[in-house]
Amino acid sequence: MENKKLYITDTILRDAHQSQAATRMKTEDMLPACEALDKVGFWSLECWGGATFDSCMRFLNEDPWERLRALKKAMPNTKLQMLFRGQNILGYKHYADDVVEAFCQKSIENGIDVVRVFDALNDTRNLEKAIKSIKTYGGHCEAALSYTTSPVHNEEYFVTLAMKLEEMGADSICIKDMANLLLPMDAYSLVKKLKERVSVPIHLHTHNTSGTGDMTNLMAVQAGVDIVDCALSPLSNGTSQPTTESLVATLKGTERDTGLDLKLLSDAAVHFRGIAAKLKEQGSLDPKVLNVDTNTLLYQVPGGMLSNLISQLKQANASDKYYEVLEEIPRVRKDFGYPPLVTPTSQIVGTQAVLNVLQGERYKMITKESKGLLRGEYGALPAPVNEDVRKKAIGDAEVITVRPADLLEPELEKYREEAKDIVKCEEDVLSYALFPQVYTKFAENREKAKNEADPNYVRIITVEDLT
Ligand code: CO
Repeated sequence: MENKKLYITDTILRDAHQSQAATRMKTEDMLPACEALDKVGFWSLECWGGATFDSCMRFLNEDPWERLRALKKAMPNTKLQMLFRGQNILGYKHYADDVVEAFCQKSIENGIDVVRVFDALNDTRNLEKAIKSIKTYGGHCEAALSYTTSPVHNEEYFVTLAMKLEEMGADSICIKDMANLLLPMDAYSLVKKLKERVSVPIHLHTHNTSGTGDMTNLMAVQAGVDIVDCALSPLSNGTSQPTTESLVATLKGTERDTGLDLKLLSDAAVHFRGIAAKLKEQGSLDPKVLNVDTNTLLYQVPGGMLSNLISQLKQANASDKYYEVLEEIPRVRKDFGYPPLVTPTSQIVGTQAVLNVLQGERYKMITKESKGLLRGEYGALPAPVNEDVRKKAIGDAEVITVRPADLLEPELEKYREEAKDIVKCEEDVLSYALFPQVYTKFAENREKAKNEADPNYVRIITVEDLT
């Protein structure tokens, strides 16, 4: 890739609404804008994976695979990109290698061009299978550095990691700054070093949670970053990405000019203004997500985690404990060996911090997931853990030091057998494998809807209907 023109990935169809509106954008909200989006000339459009897969079935009663095929058909000229959680695929635990491989295969077959793959702990063993599979099935493999700050996470750490991922076969490297912790000057320095020591393109992903996103992008551009993630203006900023149109305008006429046409961007954005208004009206988009939140800078807590925290505390009638929990999070993170806070470690550390505060005693209760993390079930932790805490959590149980997926037998056949009455194709088997309960309910609804559309169908009233 020639390092002059800056390339842009737009996230309006995935991270923008995941970060601002709890992933509630429907396929029908996307399709009317696809023709315009396809004309812009983005490097790629992020539109699938992350939390969208679960959310499609769980909240929107939609088949995520059908969404992908519809988007591909509507945007034949733009590379479609997804976010993939390494050995966790799109779920929250480790899956066996055969499921990882099949998922990569089907994602690419159904329309994905670029797979951005990351591991919450930056344990490259958790990326091996995904990277190999993406390449086997002809996808572009973008391997991500889960960016965070800690005594062990310095510039050298990330440069070494990037070199390792390039060696493993990555076609590009993403700096995945999920919490907007990467400050502008550090971005400049990190990108400079990466450009010196890595030969594949460097792609920056940040958010605007703490208000530094645009500056971070601009400094990265100055340092020679190849591709930057932005979101079209109707769903940009705050917990989402910085605005596409603003960066395009900023670089116009400079040597990093994106070549994108502001008029075409405006055509693509217009439809989403209505969608953003609708999401606000239905309560999925709380305007609070647009505020600059400097707690992120103080506590290294991602924006999405803050809103989870607020609702967890509300449910427990303990909203007054918010700042106590915020202060507990970095302590738990230190005890656990400084994992970056991204799915699923953000939920694990966050929930443990809430328990530590609400129980009035630290580690009086330890969640199953915290125990798993300390036992090495998610991979190697970046730094040594607090051994007293580990002892409390798992006693004398042996800590896993091998690649966690080496302990898992192939699972696909088991899922095929379990779900044989409710699946129509291999894609359904994968949906079931990742979210068995959610898929089962989704498949029931799909069946019901099909029957109701049949004129000969007589619906039997059940007790449930009467209560
Ligand atoms: Co993100």
